[in-house]
Amino acid sequence: MAATKRAATRKSADDAPMGPTGRPYHGFPTPPKLDGHGPARIIALCNQKGGVGKTTTTINLAASLANYGRRVLAVDFDPQGALSAGLGVQTHDVPTIYDLLLDPKRDAREVIVRTDTPDLDIIPANIDLSAAEVHLVNEVAREMILARVLRQVASDYDVILIDCQPSLGLLTVNALTASHGVIIPLECEFFALRGVALLIETIEKVRDRLNPTIKLDGLLATMYDSRTLHSREVLDRVVEAFGDDVLETVIGRTVKFPDASVSGMPITEFAPEHPAAQAYLRLARELVARGAVA
Ligand SMILES: Nc1ncnc2c1ncn2[C@@H]1O[C@H](COP(=O)(O)OP(=O)(O)OP(=O)(O)O)[C@@H](O)[C@H]1O
Ligand SMILES: [Mg+2]
Repeated sequence: MAATKRAATRKSADDAPMGPTGRPYHGFPTPPKLDGHGPARIIALCNQKGGVGKTTTTINLAASLANYGRRVLAVDFDPQGALSAGLGVQTHDVPTIYDLLLDPKRDAREVIVRTDTPDLDIIPANIDLSAAEVHLVNEVAREMILARVLRQVASDYDVILIDCQPSLGLLTVNALTASHGVIIPLECEFFALRGVALLIETIEKVRDRLNPTIKLDGLLATMYDSRTLHSREVLDRVVEAFGDDVLETVIGRTVKFPDASVSGMPITEFAPEHPAAQAYLRLARELVARGAVA
């Protein structure tokens, strides 16, 4: 049984402890300082299933990469505006991503807001964005509008993270068309894999028709509870299905995330010593080590 591979005492050949994904659990080195900045690699955080940790991952991965000296732009691409709220940015009566989509000649820099985290900026969203699909559906090259918007500012950042809404509609297709890579967060519960095949099919269609270089950067297991057999079994199934595409870093389940969201802060600032904050820092290091981020 795969679960026994993970016994705490088990070590790999290079003496690293076995991690929850059944592979040696490396720490990953602190990313080297960058000499210059940009152009950004753009990564979409995508899963049409709701509540799997897309927004939580965008916030905390963004803050973790900024912590390592990367210039980060987070794009709220969900009309719920949870990313904006989670980073303490108010969205009422301010220009948002919606205004940029409707008028791509508008200067994106006027819409970008600094967050309280150094090197972390955001393009906010609010409920206006829910009208975007209807407005954009008759546009020429309607799938490429976000790509055009982000092209304006890509040279100012090392990485741009797009927090997608839970749907595979035109907005998500815009996010995939604008991106170099995709991270798929998966909640470690029974229906985790339901819908992932459809999502991967959508990514492949976008690759064939719109964005030939898009790459799956990895699947990220979230809300993992090592105490439950259920969580462990789900993670085993995910690794069986996707192998090395499953990121080694696994995010544990903890109430600290809802607490941090309420405070409008990344967990790396709300509770920097908490294992969950350390997990997102590790995820940032893993993505640099894998070459997904500069
Ligand atoms: N590792 C975790 N442990 C416990 N709770 C978590 C964890 N990650 C996220 N949550 C909580 O789960 C809920 C859903 O997370 P989040 O909003 O990040 O998911 P999402 O995929 O962006 O959802 P949506 O599809 O609605 O946009 C939130 O209340 C969040 O605080
Ligand atoms: Mg979300």
